[in-house]
Amino acid sequence: MTGTSTSDAELVTRPDGLCRRDAPLPSPDVIAGRYRLDGRVGRGGMADVHLGHDLRLDRKVAIKRMHPELVSRPLAVERFRREAILLAAIDSPHVVAVHDHGDDRGVPYTVLRHVAGATLDRVVEHQRRLSVTRTVHLVAQVLDGLAALHDRRLVHRDVTPANVMIGRGDRVVLLDLGVALDPRRRRLTPVDERAGTPGFMAPEALVARDPDHRADLFGAGLLAIHALSGGPPLHGDGRAAVDHLPDAVPAGLRAVLAAATSPAVDARPASAAELRARLVAAVAT
Ligand SMILES: Nc1ncnc2c1ncn2[C@@H]1O[C@H](COP(=O)(O)OP(=O)(O)OP(=O)(O)O)[C@@H](O)[C@H]1O
Ligand SMILES: [Mg+2]
Repeated sequence: MTGTSTSDAELVTRPDGLCRRDAPLPSPDVIAGRYRLDGRVGRGGMADVHLGHDLRLDRKVAIKRMHPELVSRPLAVERFRREAILLAAIDSPHVVAVHDHGDDRGVPYTVLRHVAGATLDRVVEHQRRLSVTRTVHLVAQVLDGLAALHDRRLVHRDVTPANVMIGRGDRVVLLDLGVALDPRRRRLTPVDERAGTPGFMAPEALVARDPDHRADLFGAGLLAIHALSGGPPLHGDGRAAVDHLPDAVPAGLRAVLAAATSPAVDARPASAAELRARLVAAVAT
């Protein structure tokens, strides 16, 4: 051993690994001895989302950390854990990847792949409205992500512009399986609670507890209407605002969006892949 090395006696084991006894204690902003919490980027009903850094692998991550006041509610903890498990089962470039899940000092957290970019609501807010080509390019990727969920019989139930990240090169990543429906598992949503975001919900999701995957197709249609018009995609009475689309939107595309957002579930395309194909065909020259 040389004079500069540390003798075993000076080393202690801490959650963040073997380190010198006199090494500074991990800052309280490091969770599980590994993930540094940086600025907060989102705050939802269940959790805060922070930018973060994985100190072990030296990479940026996003960290979703449950609100500490909810940890005493087993259903909330179970729902939070379930989101991580559902995400882990999906392998799609258009659904956010999960790296880790655990709890730190009793507070559950989920570590997600960091997506550099902005959510669709921010992008629309900033640009006022998006072009036909760009909208179809973005929504087609949302539909690819949804198809990966639907293949596993999951329904996202919260397809909103705040849950769609637009990354570099306009690559789209779907977020937030917080209220996703997995028919094979025990329901965690109370019977009288309808899951989703007002202003972005399919009519059947307001009344039925178990909307099928076509509620997500309605949501994808609303994303397109919102992006193209820059305004709310639903009228106050729940009808989709297809009539508010700008003149530049071709008739074929209007017809596809009207079908996707039909109040009659059976009038919608049968699958995410079908809606995707019809959107793309409607703008092909
Ligand atoms: N992987 C990520 N990379 C970058 N930003 C993210 C990531 N995940 C989430 N965000 C940001 O955090 C916000 C909230 O994330 P998310 O929708 O998953 O949680 P939430 O709506 O707060 O969830 P809940 O309603 O379940 O509490 C997003 O709108 C986005 O701005
Ligand atoms: Mg969300």
